[in-house]
Amino acid sequence: LIYITRRFNFSASHRVYNPNLSDEENLKIYGKCSNPNGHGHNYIMDVTVAGEIDTETGFVMDLTELKDIVNKDIIYKVDHRNLNTDVDFMKGILASTENLAIKFWEQIENKVKTNKRRLHSIKIQETINNSVEYYGKSKQGK
Ligand code: NI
Repeated sequence: LIYITRRFNFSASHRVYNPNLSDEENLKIYGKCSNPNGHGHNYIMDVTVAGEIDTETGFVMDLTELKDIVNKDIIYKVDHRNLNTDVDFMKGILASTENLAIKFWEQIENKVKTNKRRLHSIKIQETINNSVEYYGKSKQGK
């Protein structure tokens, strides 16, 4: 298998909090990320596809096709938005980076998949020091 990766950037705001807890309890768990009026991040996301090389094109996947899928189904929906209130697939879901990675995966998994390639990972860097990687629900070996 060969792994190809395209990087994306988006800026978004969120408040990380559990609505069932008080502001005080949220502050204890999430610190300044639970600031009631929210805050923003410049996210960096790496989307990796694994597959075999197509003998005609020499590609695992045309990176422009991957770019178009991710832009349409993820980036245009989250860039310069509030992740708690503006994004249909994040409604009712705690806007942590972990949950973002899982929901992003769900948006594009089927569009990337063919009999020769599949989504391998989504890595989201929220800050210089913090990042999350998601590899799907189960270990997908071949
Ligand atoms: Ni945050």
